[in-house]
Amino acid sequence: MNKNDYIYLDHAATTPMREVAFEAYKKTEMDAFANSSGGHALSRKAKNILEDSREFIASCFGAAPNEITFTSGGTEADNWIIKTPFIDNDSNAELTTTQIEHEAVIASAENVHKKGFNVNFVSCDSDGITNIDEFKKSINSNTLITSVMYANNETGVVQPIEEMSKIVKDVNPNTLFHSDVVQAVATKKLNFHNLGIDSAAISGHKIGGPKGIGVMFLKTGYKIPSFLHGGKQELERRAGTVNVSGVAGLAAALKEQQNNLEEEVALIENERQIFENILKENFELKIVGENVERLCHISNIQFKEVNSETLMVALDLNGIGVSRGSACASGAQKPSHVLKAMKIDEKVINNHLRFSFGWTTQNGDGIKFAEIVKKTIKELI
Ligand SMILES: Cc1ncc(COP(=O)(O)O)c(C=O)c1O
Repeated sequence: MNKNDYIYLDHAATTPMREVAFEAYKKTEMDAFANSSGGHALSRKAKNILEDSREFIASCFGAAPNEITFTSGGTEADNWIIKTPFIDNDSNAELTTTQIEHEAVIASAENVHKKGFNVNFVSCDSDGITNIDEFKKSINSNTLITSVMYANNETGVVQPIEEMSKIVKDVNPNTLFHSDVVQAVATKKLNFHNLGIDSAAISGHKIGGPKGIGVMFLKTGYKIPSFLHGGKQELERRAGTVNVSGVAGLAAALKEQQNNLEEEVALIENERQIFENILKENFELKIVGENVERLCHISNIQFKEVNSETLMVALDLNGIGVSRGSACASGAQKPSHVLKAMKIDEKVINNHLRFSFGWTTQNGDGIKFAEIVKKTIKELI
């Protein structure tokens, strides 16, 4: 099948690289390929691109340039923030996170727990919003870090981040409030300082930048141990030759995204609405988080009559790529930990599919895609 005929509705997994990002990546790789830590003219050229990009990327999130460290992606930034403060730590330090975090956070938190630290996994309500009372009770004078994602990657449901940060600071002003904003920044403009976010994880490939590049934001005043040891790159915070081309690609993607964000969001929101309306008119279904704040690009739908694995395969055959929103273990259909935390009825927990839109979504896509999904489901039931 021609790539152009295939309909991609899996932008939350990764979104195509923006042309400007690809061009910036290529140009940097060609013209400024030298090691940005070197002492000659070509290295200075790479270093200048790196620092200009850092300054621009920082400004997009209301941050200072020295609060930005480049990583290999969101997973590394989450692991770094959550795990390293517990290494060589013999105090009674605690960690609080939620049951609905991305695997990068859940697995990091489990690793901290395995080392003997107390870790609280706070539950959520049926819409996927963290139980605030339980969250508040879990914070105490030993809480070193709290980690709460801005918005969920499977459902798009947004957490009351500002309120949660205030709760944390009221109980323990020294606690670091971390937020995985990987999925949120795909369609939202965030100012970390205004939101009370002390550290954050960002991933380039969700915004239309290259894969393998990300950002760890850490507010001035906080220090965490290095995760990668070696050279003195990135203000001695992260060793390893910096992926300057990736950084330049990310900066270019962000520039285009920030310039067009209002129009992109309006279009995606409109097409998703049309898409959901058509499916609602034709089938018995539930849209996760329909009545609460959710990211405009994600539509997690529970179909009453059809299993998600079957539907996903049938849609693929009909030229639409979607995902269930969580990894399947060795072919077995393992229910999503997010939907489980939301206490979705076992009978329908494997009937959810995540349709996710993105910056390439066009006018008319909502109808077009819904009609194919409608036809596919009708063939199955
Ligand atoms: C919420 C969230 N956090 C973290 C990640 C991991 O980011 P990366 O692929 O850059 O490691 C993802 C990607 O799926 C995500 O959606």
